[in-house]
Amino acid sequence: MKCQAVIFDLDGVICFTDEYHYRAWKALAGKLNVPFDRTVNNRLRGVSRMASLEIVLEKYSGPALSQEDKEALAAEKNAIYRESLREMSPADLSEEVKSTLDELRRRGYLLAIGSSSKNTPFILRQIGLEGYFDAVSDGNNITRSKPDPEVFLKAAEFVGREPAACLVVEDAVSGAEAGHAAGMKVACVGDAAEKKAGDYNLKSFGELLDIL
Ligand code: BG6
Ligand code: MG
Repeated sequence: MKCQAVIFDLDGVICFTDEYHYRAWKALAGKLNVPFDRTVNNRLRGVSRMASLEIVLEKYSGPALSQEDKEALAAEKNAIYRESLREMSPADLSEEVKSTLDELRRRGYLLAIGSSSKNTPFILRQIGLEGYFDAVSDGNNITRSKPDPEVFLKAAEFVGREPAACLVVEDAVSGAEAGHAAGMKVACVGDAAEKKAGDYNLKSFGELLDIL
C-alpha cells in the first residue's frame, strides 16, 4: 500500500530534547550515586518516564525505594527537564526539519506525531508547531509505552489511515520496534539509524524527501 501518512517521533527526531532528557537523568543519577552514561541513556529513548526510571535504577544500591519514592524521583527528573524546555523557542526547530515537513505536506502526506512523552503539547508549543500536525498521539493518550505499538496505532486511527499506509520516523530502537509491531514501515535517524533498526536508515532528516 502506498504511504499516505508519516508519523514522527518527537524527542530526537523533530527536536533535540533528547539531550535535555539525558542531562536531567544524569543529574538525578548523580544524586542517587548511580552510574549513568550515554549507553544507558540510549536505552531510555522512546521509553516512558517511569520505565526509564527503572532502567536508571538498575545499578542503584541505596535504601529500598517505595512506589511513592519512585514517583517523587520521576517528578524530580521531570522538573529538571521542564526547566530546559522553558528555554526552548521556535529557534530550536531546525530549518531542515521545518522545510522537510512543509515539503511533505505539499506532496500531500498527512503528518502526525507519535511520542511517548507527556510533555509533547508543551514542547510543540515552545517550538512553534502547536496545531501544525494533522494528529498528535502522545504519552497522554496511551497506557503502554514503546516498544508497544499503541502510540502509533492511535496516531494512524487519529488520521484515519490503515497502519500499512503509514511510515514511522524514529531515533529510538524501541520506537522502531513499536513501528514494526504496528505493521508500519520505519525510517530511522540518529541512534536507531546507526543500529540499522529501520527499513530505511537515514543520515539526515532531509533524506525523507528521497524515500517518500
Ligand atoms: C520519549 C523519550 O519521547 O518520551 C524518552 O525518548 C522519555 O526518553 C519519554 O522518557 C517520556 O517523556 P516525558 O516527557 O513524558 O517524561
Ligand atoms: Mg525519540
